[in-house]
Amino acid sequence: MIGKMRLPMNNVDKKLHRLKGNKFLRDLCSETDFTRSNFVQPIFVNETITNKEEILGLKDNFVMNLDDSLKQINVDISNGVNNFLLFISPKNKAQNSFNLSFHEQVISSVKDEFKNDINLWTDVCLCSLTDHGHCCLFNNDHSINLDTTLLEISNIARIYAEAGSDVIAPSDMMDGRTLKIREVLDNSNLSMTPIISYSTKFSSNFYGPFRNAAESTPSFGDRKQYQLDYRSKSEAIRASIRCAEEGADMLMVKPGITSIDLISNIKDKTNLMVGAYQVSGEYAGICLSEEKGLLNLEEALKETWHVMRRAEAQFIITYGARLAKQIGF
Ligand code: PBG
Repeated sequence: MIGKMRLPMNNVDKKLHRLKGNKFLRDLCSETDFTRSNFVQPIFVNETITNKEEILGLKDNFVMNLDDSLKQINVDISNGVNNFLLFISPKNKAQNSFNLSFHEQVISSVKDEFKNDINLWTDVCLCSLTDHGHCCLFNNDHSINLDTTLLEISNIARIYAEAGSDVIAPSDMMDGRTLKIREVLDNSNLSMTPIISYSTKFSSNFYGPFRNAAESTPSFGDRKQYQLDYRSKSEAIRASIRCAEEGADMLMVKPGITSIDLISNIKDKTNLMVGAYQVSGEYAGICLSEEKGLLNLEEALKETWHVMRRAEAQFIITYGARLAKQIGF
């Protein structure tokens, strides 16, 4: 059970309604079956790219300009995908005062084009914006400047929601970010925008292909200062409980397979829906094995997805969401 709620009542009030605002979100939250409504497809949009480039290891996943992204989403919709997670990478990187005009353009264009045919999630983090590739802002001594980080992250979340993102997905793992984002959204007339927190996110070796695609490799050090230690279970569960207490509408574990022991535990303790992110390195492992003739891609994906579902994942973010229909979901 969650401990004593520390949130103002005006936040807690709306929690059951916030996830009912669109059909695809309702389908995704339905707990009784496992269909392609439960999948979320990542999309990488890059401001500098001209021709789309396949992401190393992630078969049929590309870094794209805005036009190609719109075309890709259109094809995906015809293949039964309705839930998308956007990763947007702007041309200019900075240390602060980020320019978010490309993000606004991407989100509003996608939403204008597909309206209620899609449920659009946007990843909120600083690592594709900062010149150092970390998910936070630093003081001069390289310690995390939490106050300015939370201000930036919550401001970014507001801008994404205002631009039309249906769901806000913070992946930064900064202490207190869910609470801060909720507060800013509520104060900006966005009290019905749900927050899906990457709540149990490990510092993992399996994010490599993603970091190439999202231009988010840290230029110094690693993310062990703020992402979870895979050796610890209680901390991993506590991280999700804390996000629940701060007002997250749904939770997520990541990487999926290496967090398989945590999902039902977190679900029981929070009574929130908990999804799993089959991250880039997990997916690439399967694709590259197939390339070498060592397994059948579709069968292997089916197995991993059912295992995550068996572990009680409510939704699965996977680079193979666009294959789900052809695989039989
Ligand atoms: C950004 C972010 C990462 C992923 C999702 N959002 C990378 C990281 O934290 O280093 C990883 C996703 C994947 O590997 O598929 N913070």
